[in-house]
Amino acid sequence: MRRTIEWDDDAILIIDQCALPRELRTLRLETVDELIAAIQRLAVRGAPALGAAGALGVALAARAHPEDHEAVRAAAAALAEARPTAVNLSWGVQRALKLLPEGADAVLAEARAMLDEDERRNRDASGRAADLIRDLCPRRPLRLLTHCNTGRLATVAWGTALGVARHLAEAGEIEYVLADETRPLLQGSRLTAWELAEAGIPYRVCPDAAAASALAAGMVDAVVVGADRIAGNGDAANKVGTYPLALAAARHGVPFLVVAPESTVDATLATGAEIVIEERAADEVTHLGGVPIAPKGAMAYNPAFDVTPVDLITAIVTEARTVRPTPPPE
Ligand code: MRU
Repeated sequence: MRRTIEWDDDAILIIDQCALPRELRTLRLETVDELIAAIQRLAVRGAPALGAAGALGVALAARAHPEDHEAVRAAAAALAEARPTAVNLSWGVQRALKLLPEGADAVLAEARAMLDEDERRNRDASGRAADLIRDLCPRRPLRLLTHCNTGRLATVAWGTALGVARHLAEAGEIEYVLADETRPLLQGSRLTAWELAEAGIPYRVCPDAAAASALAAGMVDAVVVGADRIAGNGDAANKVGTYPLALAAARHGVPFLVVAPESTVDATLATGAEIVIEERAADEVTHLGGVPIAPKGAMAYNPAFDVTPVDLITAIVTEARTVRPTPPPE
């Protein structure tokens, strides 16, 4: 599958991200309930991919209940709540839902158009971020550090922050990408490393706890991450571990870029303090691959995301604009 998420006849096809890197397999989702379950176990994940999933989910519901718009709206509401932090999910649901009065075919056409748009927007945002990095970082080839997975798997295609590495690698300007492993669900070591290997881009997997040392040792020219929701003032929620990375990048004068589509910006929220942070099950922390790594009954603090304050961000780059909240580090 070239795309992470697609429409096929009467169903949604997704790359099953729970199976990677062991196996590249496709899941066929035929109902909204199946889609919600896939979203919650992170078989499909990443903010832009969730936006596409939300829109296609509304199309599934509209086709299942062509005469019952109330049923479609109820399914859409459940879908929008499947995960709370990435604003793209409810954005995708709402955008597709607007077409409901015109019928199920119109909803599906809108959802499919959104899939096409996603790749274009990601390519534009990441291309513009790549140019900014070229301006900010004199060293060639470049060494990037990234967190979580923001590549083709987190989007419909191409990627946001990882799309930056793709652009620079195409121009022969990448020495390596350090991919934070991204505890506890390992989106970095399982998914980002898999994508970088697939694309032939040199990389090393890095324990999250080693990222600050890599920055201190001068091993990184720029940090690039994605976002799940960007508040009106520029505070950005992203995978937990992003905020400490931003602190360390600021301490060591390394540019820290957030790359995301405009659909990730939530101007209804004044600051990041208003962003709802998803808390996930304790066993994601107390177990690894089903094996206990903490005493039986251990409780856990397991927020899926954290918020990076805008003053730690060198630039927020979307397909439409580059916002420079703070001067670039010396
Ligand atoms: O919990 P996940 O894996 O859905 O978290 C994903 C992230 O935090 C990504 O960095 C973000 O969605 C941007 S994806 C382009």
